[in-house]
Amino acid sequence: MVEWTDAERTAISTLWSNIDVGEIGPQALSRLLVVFPWTQRYFPGFGDLSTPAAIAANPKVAQHGKTVMGGLETAVKNMDNIKNAYAKLSVMHSEKLHVDPDNFRVLAECITVVVAAKFGPSVFTAGFQEAWQKFLAVVVSALGRQYH
Ligand code: HEM
Repeated sequence: MVEWTDAERTAISTLWSNIDVGEIGPQALSRLLVVFPWTQRYFPGFGDLSTPAAIAANPKVAQHGKTVMGGLETAVKNMDNIKNAYAKLSVMHSEKLHVDPDNFRVLAECITVVVAAKFGPSVFTAGFQEAWQKFLAVVVSALGRQYH
């Protein structure tokens, strides 16, 4: 089981309570689709993803970004049991969606960049950054858990 210090718990809950999933989610998914363009293959029905501007303006990207970011709430609310909390979602991404689990890691990087850019270093301090990266690493590991 993952151990969390009080400082880490405070960092995660402080950041999370100030994150607007409808803002950060679309930005993070847009960034993923631009910076790691092979990830576009998982979204064949999303329409025009040909330029950064098209991606940023795409309502399906916005909607799904919000869904994915909203999915992190499960981890925030189950800090002591993230693996079990994501068991079903892991099975779905593996067996139904066939998402290569390395993509979880690159999406987590995109999320961190967007969150850091939003809050800036006076809030997203080195300590918060460390706690946030640890949190996302646990999420990534849990989502990759049901892959065989
Ligand atoms: C669907 C969460 C990463 C591709 C979903 C759903 C959630 C979710 C909550 C909706 C599940 C449902 O409808 O029951 C997450 C989280 C991620 C993550 C928390 C990592 C932090 C990824 C990545 C990809 C991906 C990296 C591909 C590059 C998809 C696809 C769907 C989906 C294709 C189905 C979309 C649809 O047809 O509606 N994800 N996801 N996910 N996810 Fe993920």
